[in-house]
Amino acid sequence: MSEKSMLPSRFLFYIITTSIFLLILSSLFLLEFSNTSTISTKVLKLILVNNTSVYLKPSAKNEQAEVSSLPSMTSQIEHKVRLEGQGEGFNFTDSGRNFISRKRQRKGACDPDQVLLKVFMYDLPPDFHFGLLGWKGYAGETWPNVQDLAQIPTYPGGLNLQHSIEYWLTLDLLSSETLDIDRPCTAIRVNNSSLADIIFVPFFSSLSYNRHSKLHGKDKISVNRMLQSKLVRYLTGRDEWKQMGGKNHIIVAHHPNSMLDARKKLGSAMFVLADFGRYPAEIANLEKDIIAPYKHVVSTIRGDASAPFSKRPILAYFQGAVYRKDGGAIRQELYYLLKDEKGVHFAFGSVQGNGIHKAGQGMASSKFCLNIAGDTPSSNRLFDAIVNHCVPVIISDEIELPFEDVLDYSEFCLFVRAADAVKKGYLVNLLRGIKENKWTKMWERLKEVAQHFEFQYPSRPDDAVDMIWQAVSRKISSARIKLHRENRYRRSRLFKGN
Ligand SMILES: *[C@@H]1O[C@H](CO)[C@@H](O)[C@H](O)[C@H]1NC(C)=O
Ligand SMILES: *[C@@H]1O[C@H](CO)[C@@H](O)[C@H](O)[C@H]1NC(C)=O
Ligand SMILES: *[C@@H]1O[C@H](CO)[C@@H](O)[C@H](O)[C@H]1NC(C)=O
Ligand SMILES: *[C@@H]1O[C@H](CO)[C@@H](O)[C@H](O)[C@H]1NC(C)=O
Ligand SMILES: *[C@@H]1O[C@H](CO)[C@@H](O)[C@H](O)[C@H]1NC(C)=O
Repeated sequence: MSEKSMLPSRFLFYIITTSIFLLILSSLFLLEFSNTSTISTKVLKLILVNNTSVYLKPSAKNEQAEVSSLPSMTSQIEHKVRLEGQGEGFNFTDSGRNFISRKRQRKGACDPDQVLLKVFMYDLPPDFHFGLLGWKGYAGETWPNVQDLAQIPTYPGGLNLQHSIEYWLTLDLLSSETLDIDRPCTAIRVNNSSLADIIFVPFFSSLSYNRHSKLHGKDKISVNRMLQSKLVRYLTGRDEWKQMGGKNHIIVAHHPNSMLDARKKLGSAMFVLADFGRYPAEIANLEKDIIAPYKHVVSTIRGDASAPFSKRPILAYFQGAVYRKDGGAIRQELYYLLKDEKGVHFAFGSVQGNGIHKAGQGMASSKFCLNIAGDTPSSNRLFDAIVNHCVPVIISDEIELPFEDVLDYSEFCLFVRAADAVKKGYLVNLLRGIKENKWTKMWERLKEVAQHFEFQYPSRPDDAVDMIWQAVSRKISSARIKLHRENRYRRSRLFKGN
């Protein structure tokens, strides 16, 4: 080999090494860029307020270590951010965290043969749904454009939000029709009811109850009652309803007083409810209906900002109305038992406005959060506790829990019978007896399950919306078993008759 032929090869070597170096460098930049570019600009704006962005940078390892030693401070900051974004209404700020940490999911159409649930949704007039939020489409428009977050009407904030399940489910079905929204392929909307597994009734019944129950002027009947009677007439006149007497329909009635007039006539449908407290068993029961979580009203605490055992100075936390009718008498008894106990925060007053913020902080600084039956067996308090990783203590014998066929609540909640809870010393002794390692196991589990209780748009895999669709699918399949078993001999009888 001569010198002449060596030269180009050395030159080539330099070129290759530099270009490899440049390639690596540029792909690093690209990675960094794409990490942040998946966050929508709206979310980004929220995150950046008051310098909280440092807590969300995935690469900030040593900062994270700092964060976990300063849990109360970060939770404070996070509350501030959320509240600023929230305003009167609600606009998708809750999902900010998940845009970053959750795996991306497929864009584009879901394969109809692969989805769990094909849902037919009536094109009810907007008066029944987004019109109740003040939305007015162009003439002939039934639904808002869900591709553009800015065009989606916001649901009223405060305590209204806890029953907003109707809104999230409807939005999710609408989004299944657009190709460029990332969401799980669990349920899709189909436009032919005979191809559907279930028929969804898009009536915002809780909002209708909360906001339109009052009589105005010379009205003889409230908007809420008028809508319900219109709905009954509409549904019972449909072929889809007549086919199975309504059993193939799903109606969301999360507020315990929603659908009060119509529930009896539509009781054959599958309901999505908070609990069965105000329902007779023949109208609502676990066999046909779905229990959905409340949308929590305090802000979610991020896993790495969640205080461990030693950083939660309060042993047990309860904030709520103390005097309740019905099953709620126990709150009063517990109040007198616990109010002077050391480390127990037991306070009056429903949570509104700034109170929501304070309740969040209180829960995030407590080891245990009490969930005591009120005038209904369930409340948003349980879900507020879960997203603050405060181990719930459930004192409500009649409570029904969402997704209990797939979640074992005993892994992250304590259950105490009401009769035991009112025994002097029972509750505090029980809670003081739970040592750090046992508590920490429950806390770790809480951090894992909290995602199942987040309502958000767009929906994410295994969040509350996705979990509800999965539960609906399981319910349909158990109803099918029942139907097929009933058919066993019925059909053979038919053959004999012929
Ligand atoms: C944000 O942090 C920077 C430095 O960390 C500081 O100079 C700035 O004043 C902070 N801004 C706000 C709004 O707190
Ligand atoms: C940061 O928070 C403070 C206190 O809540 C607030 O007054 C201020 O406007 C916030 N800063 C920004 C940049 O929003
Ligand atoms: C969020 O909602 C509030 C009140 O509804 C509104 O003023 C604000 O512009 C919204 N923010 C975004 C980023 O859409
Ligand atoms: C129904 O959906 C199919 C495909 O999803 C579409 O091709 C068709 O045009 C739709 N029909 C109506 C009447 O909207
Ligand atoms: C709906 O699907 C059924 C069964 O595939 C079909 O017979 C019917 O024509 C379809 N209806 C419409 C309006 O497309």
